[in-house]
Amino acid sequence: MKTTFNVLGVAGSTRKGSFSGQALKITLEYAKKQGAEVRLIEAGLPLYDPNAQASKEVEQAAEAVGWADAIILASPDYHGSMSGALKNFLDHFYEEFAGKLFGYIVASHEKGLTVMDQMRTAVRQCYGWSMPYGVSANGGQDFSGGEINARLSKRLNMMARDLVVYGRLLNSQFVRDLGSTEQDTFAAHYRP
Ligand SMILES: Cc1cc2nc3c(=O)[nH]c(=O)nc-3n(C[C@H](O)[C@H](O)[C@H](O)COP(=O)(O)O)c2cc1C
Repeated sequence: MKTTFNVLGVAGSTRKGSFSGQALKITLEYAKKQGAEVRLIEAGLPLYDPNAQASKEVEQAAEAVGWADAIILASPDYHGSMSGALKNFLDHFYEEFAGKLFGYIVASHEKGLTVMDQMRTAVRQCYGWSMPYGVSANGGQDFSGGEINARLSKRLNMMARDLVVYGRLLNSQFVRDLGSTEQDTFAAHYRP
């Protein structure tokens, strides 16, 4: 049985010094302390085109998504929505998200709740599981001189802990169900 637990962070902002990106990096460090293996990738991929052959970047992203047991999506709040780059990243995948738990980080001047709702909707549509809460980060209030305040740090640490603990449970059951012959399970749809 696999003992490692892999967490992939997807950075949805291409802005230099992005707050969502910084919060994502910190969360991945916390996940590492929980015993997870971690990787970070940028969401910027070629615009999804169903007719196009997968580019090298898309293949690399697909390898990383396949490697992941849980995924953290980090997005800026753009007009109450996730960034176009992140939505485009998600459009490249579908079945790969099943059996994985997703965590959400949003950098916003508000709470970014509509952004999290959209990320949850897209993930649910691909049969991924979502954490019941997300973490919003406000650049002006939570960051100072490359540091984050204690409130944000505590929330990110909690999310990393919960993602690893609950993600392991969900994923290990999904993998067990995949390998069994039981028919009436959600995982049965993903058997080759
Ligand atoms: C095109 C655009 C749209 C934005 N729309 C919103 C918005 O609707 N609500 C909000 O609170 N902030 C909005 N912002 C502010 C960003 O969410 C904020 O600067 C955030 O820190 C960006 O994330 P990042 O630091 O990870 O790049 C917008 C910024 C841009 C550039």
